[in-house]
Amino acid sequence: MRLRRSLPLIFATPLLAGCGRQSALDAASPQQHKIVLLFWVMTGVAAFGVALILSLLWLGWRRRNRNEAPGGQRRATVLLILLGVVAPIVSLSALFVWSDVFVLRATSAPKPSSTALTVEVIGHQWWWEVRYLGTPAVTANEIHIPAGERVNLVGRTADVIHSFWVPELNRKIDLIPGRTNRIVLDATHPGRYRGQCYEFCGLQHAHMGLWVVADPPARFRAWLAQQGRPATAGGEGRDAFLAEACASCHTIRGTPASGDAGPDLTHLASRQTIAGALLPNTRQGLTDWIDDPQHFKPGNHMPALGLPQSEIRSIVAYLERLK
Ligand code: CUA
Repeated sequence: MRLRRSLPLIFATPLLAGCGRQSALDAASPQQHKIVLLFWVMTGVAAFGVALILSLLWLGWRRRNRNEAPGGQRRATVLLILLGVVAPIVSLSALFVWSDVFVLRATSAPKPSSTALTVEVIGHQWWWEVRYLGTPAVTANEIHIPAGERVNLVGRTADVIHSFWVPELNRKIDLIPGRTNRIVLDATHPGRYRGQCYEFCGLQHAHMGLWVVADPPARFRAWLAQQGRPATAGGEGRDAFLAEACASCHTIRGTPASGDAGPDLTHLASRQTIAGALLPNTRQGLTDWIDDPQHFKPGNHMPALGLPQSEIRSIVAYLERLK
């Protein structure tokens, strides 16, 4: 019964979320364009090499019964040195310099002076905490950035090794305990880009997704200002949320709830998904998640509290007002 109820929800998530293709070949930033070009050139060079070797093999096989022409041995040696030594050294060195010197440099940590905004992303089992340095804004699983502006993304982890990857925007960086890694996010156009944890980090590694939303700059500034404000919603469900265990794991700025085990929920209603981009942020999604989080993501840190349906309904009503 539970499964039948949850399947449509899980399949509906990509539809509601706008069908991210999550393809590294779908470049949406200058950095990813460089990576895609490198990929195709490397693929082309490799394909040419394979074709060349296969045709030489074929040629040799066809001439297997011929007598050796005068000077044939020398020509074969020259050909061997040219194709077997010189060509690989030249082509591999050229590709190495291009990828390691130019592409890697263009896609790695941005110069401090080249970015105006720093976003800190902290990996958790199994969700993403997102902080906007210099502002009180804290969110989860959904990173808003201004389109057409370079953003300095700083990656850390709260527990095990994770890897932050948004294939349409840039290469991946690992989030390693005790270290910070940086990368530039630079979406050319407004849009939604799906990301995924790319380092096995436990049972729900596959359900550690995220969205990067590139907004037009003015809309982004308004969003950031809104996310920095404390929650003002009151009324139905607020007291239940604060009285139950919810408040000991989640923060809602502007209320006594200040737990840090789970995502900050101050403006939960402004997000499109919950639970590491697994479920749509709808009344049904929230209700099912609170009712039995272990059913959707076995092993995650949120327990089923066994709350009566009426109480879940009123807590969901409160969460829906956290715009
Ligand atoms: Cu986090 Cu895989």
